[in-house]
Amino acid sequence: MLLLFIHVLLALLSENNFVGASLRGIAKPNCPTDCGNLTVPYPFGMGKGCALDESFELICNSTFNPPKLFIRSGNIQIYNISDSEISIFNSVAYSCYNESGSSDIVNSTTSFEETSPFTFSSINKFTVIGCDNYAWIRGLHLHGSDYMTGCMGICTNVSNVLKNGKCSGVGCCQTPIQKGLKGVNITIGSFDNHMNVWPFNPCGFAFLADENHFRFGGARDLSGASKLYLDSHVHILVDWVIGRGKRNCSQATECKANSFCTDDEELGGYRCSCNKGYQGNPYLLNGCQGQFRI
Ligand SMILES: *[C@@H]1O[C@H](CO)[C@@H](O)[C@H](O)[C@H]1NC(C)=O
Ligand SMILES: *[C@@H]1O[C@H](CO)[C@@H](O)[C@H](O)[C@H]1NC(C)=O
Ligand SMILES: *[C@@H]1O[C@H](CO)[C@@H](O)[C@H](O)[C@H]1NC(C)=O
Ligand SMILES: *[C@@H]1O[C@H](CO)[C@@H](O)[C@H](O)[C@H]1NC(C)=O
Ligand SMILES: *[C@@H]1O[C@H](CO)[C@@H](O)[C@H](O)[C@H]1NC(C)=O
Ligand SMILES: *[C@@H]1O[C@H](CO)[C@@H](O)[C@H](O)[C@H]1NC(C)=O
Ligand SMILES: *[C@@H]1O[C@H](CO)[C@@H](O)[C@H](O)[C@H]1NC(C)=O
Ligand SMILES: *[C@@H]1O[C@H](CO)[C@@H](O)[C@H](O)[C@H]1NC(C)=O
Repeated sequence: MLLLFIHVLLALLSENNFVGASLRGIAKPNCPTDCGNLTVPYPFGMGKGCALDESFELICNSTFNPPKLFIRSGNIQIYNISDSEISIFNSVAYSCYNESGSSDIVNSTTSFEETSPFTFSSINKFTVIGCDNYAWIRGLHLHGSDYMTGCMGICTNVSNVLKNGKCSGVGCCQTPIQKGLKGVNITIGSFDNHMNVWPFNPCGFAFLADENHFRFGGARDLSGASKLYLDSHVHILVDWVIGRGKRNCSQATECKANSFCTDDEELGGYRCSCNKGYQGNPYLLNGCQGQFRI
């Protein structure tokens, strides 16, 4: 009797796990689900007919090992995908100087196509690291307006720079950005070619960073060796919606059984979510499944 009970319990537990693990983030039937260690959930898809439409089509490039996932246009590499956001790899603007003040300056630009479902999330902060730098960001809002803001990275003595991971304003400056930008250009420069700070700060950096995942590294980040680290470890969060600029929940057909629709009025689109007590992919037929609860 006891054995039977344990058996049933184990079966139920594993079924519960199975439902949770197999349905979250599943792709369209007969479509690939993975690119390297990333799962690509519908409405995203890899290959013809696997995505909701062309703008959700992603490219898995397996000439890299492990394979890398890209947005179809613009050579933008994806780090991860979630219900309402994707995170992408960074494009860091930098200005580096040698001892005599000669410079190596690179501006950065990242933009999504006109019809794309993507805009930069306002969770990102415009971030400038440096002791003799100014930088500005110029963005194009999806409603067509031009947007601009800036920040200055200033410090006179590296011993003033905090080491606790906070961007405190000394050697590191952060400012919010508007929601709904679909393209950004970042320009960086130096007041005095780093002449007075060069021994501890030869380079300045400017980039967007998901504020929950960026930690200022203090003197390490100012030392100049951090560009590669910033490129690969500091990600940008990108909002996505469906029906952008064309439809809202009242005309939505994408939210399947046991799911509901939420408008994002600012971005002019919507997203689907499974009803309470259901889990899975709301964009797929029978995607939202009831959870067995013990
Ligand atoms: C994959 O990446 C390589 C190297 O960057 C590039 O030459 C190739 O065109 C890419 N393939 C696709 C399908 O984008
Ligand atoms: C994918 O794997 C790489 C290392 O190969 C790791 O750095 C990264 O965090 C992983 N991404 C996800 C979303 O798990
Ligand atoms: C990727 O996104 C999923 C879904 O939001 C999340 O559970 C997971 O922790 C993320 N992985 C990384 C490495 O950030
Ligand atoms: C600084 O860079 C310039 C231009 O690349 C070069 O001519 C000069 O020799 C460099 N100075 C030092 C001290 O490295
Ligand atoms: C960076 O952008 C600024 C302003 O648009 C421009 O003046 C400068 O020449 C650019 N620098 C490089 C290296 O492209
Ligand atoms: C960014 O720079 C590119 C190339 O210089 C330009 O075509 C684009 O309009 C700029 N975008 C913004 C938002 O300023
Ligand atoms: C930097 O700060 C340290 C410790 O407070 C001090 O000893 C040093 O003289 C300062 N250097 C400059 C150039 O102000
Ligand atoms: C949804 O779109 C319809 C038709 O374009 C419009 O009449 C309605 O006001 C919109 N509703 C919302 C909540 O935006």
